[in-house]
Amino acid sequence: MRHFVLSLCALVVDSLVAAEFHPRSDAAAECPLSTLLDNDATCAAPRLSAHRPEGDGRVEGEDRNPLLPPGWEGPSDCIREWCVFWNPELNGGIALVTTLAHAQLATSYPQVADDADASSPLPFEPTPIPGKGTGLVATRAIRKGDIIMQRTATLVAQDAAHFRLPPNLRNDLYQRAVDKLPAPRRAAFLTQIGADVYTKIDRNSFRLVFVNGSAAAPTNRDDKTAAHLGCFNDVHFFNHDCRPNTHYRITNLTHTTVAVQDIAAGDELTISYVDATLQRAERQKRLSDWGFECTCKQCSLPPREVLESDLRLQAMDWLSEELEDKVTTVGGLVELEPAMGARLVALYEQERLHAYLGHAYTRAALVYSMFEDADNAKKYAADAEVAMLREYGPANKDAVAMRALAADPENHWSWGIVRRAG
Ligand SMILES: *[C@@H]1O[C@H](CO)[C@@H](O)[C@H](O)[C@H]1NC(C)=O
Ligand SMILES: *[C@@H]1O[C@H](CO)[C@@H](O)[C@H](O)[C@H]1NC(C)=O
Repeated sequence: MRHFVLSLCALVVDSLVAAEFHPRSDAAAECPLSTLLDNDATCAAPRLSAHRPEGDGRVEGEDRNPLLPPGWEGPSDCIREWCVFWNPELNGGIALVTTLAHAQLATSYPQVADDADASSPLPFEPTPIPGKGTGLVATRAIRKGDIIMQRTATLVAQDAAHFRLPPNLRNDLYQRAVDKLPAPRRAAFLTQIGADVYTKIDRNSFRLVFVNGSAAAPTNRDDKTAAHLGCFNDVHFFNHDCRPNTHYRITNLTHTTVAVQDIAAGDELTISYVDATLQRAERQKRLSDWGFECTCKQCSLPPREVLESDLRLQAMDWLSEELEDKVTTVGGLVELEPAMGARLVALYEQERLHAYLGHAYTRAALVYSMFEDADNAKKYAADAEVAMLREYGPANKDAVAMRALAADPENHWSWGIVRRAG
């Protein structure tokens, strides 16, 4: 039971924007470019030539690395443990700045086609938006749950390289990675805001975690170097809204944007750059830390409505925590009330947090099941399954759990546990 609830929390964390998570400084000593001048072990091998690290698995006389699948090139241009790996064919080109071990993981993922290659026209168009530069506007009606955009990363850098390498080495490595991209893909990458490659990654990237083994039980859970920053073409066109009409998820190397409500032709498509369930002052602070002023409708409400909204967000937060606390602490169950479930869902709906409803529905379904209210348990579990699939994709294990609950609440672990505890 504890595991189930904790796994819900983990999911929410995974899908947020990279910039929310990363301390900006990790000052490293400047390492001289020439190894001849360098006796310091930490600077021992800035191998900027096309020199390959030892043990990269290549067989003499073969020009591709047998440790990587066909189509992938590298390692090349290594600095310390980080090298460039690239595949010019995958959706027009992708380059990775990472270690051989992580490149092996990333290149083992199934390849997913960008929708740009699909035959049906995309349901949006980049359009100038007054006061916001370019945004994406729906060119036809889009239904809730429809996939709007799907993109494989163009440039991916390991967090550790991004934050720890001295700037001159890092910039050189990034330039070499960008140079590996075929010209059209490189040109699209370079249209992102930011004066140089480092700043473009800093401002536009999303967090990717290279999971080893199954997503549910990764064998590299404690691997601090699993975190990567990935840029995706066109995704930077989505403007921010604290009440977005789309939600995105990242699976392996792919960024997928889904409609979380019905969208009319002519409406702007938006995502939230920060956790939209935060109160206004905190949302504004996080956005401004990121060099961005929040002028969305929700941030610009009259003071009275801001206060009402903040109070709802506070109540949502409190209620979610209460539910989790009571479910996971000894004796907590007897203090639960079934109405907490419907109340949580109502708060999300009033706040128009359509992008996060899976969280509320899941908790509501569980609490009703705990009180042996089959009708409500089934209703919220069915809604939870649909919302979790929409928000997290077809592999989501909470969606599977909710399907089981909707189908047969009486045999779910949560059924009647309040009565048994009391
Ligand atoms: C992934 O797991 C394999 C097999 O256990 C191991 O050899 C490899 O080093 C792991 N990769 C990472 C990045 O942890
Ligand atoms: C992500 O990669 C894993 C491991 O290769 C694979 O099992 C899974 O199906 C992939 N997910 C998607 C959505 O492609």
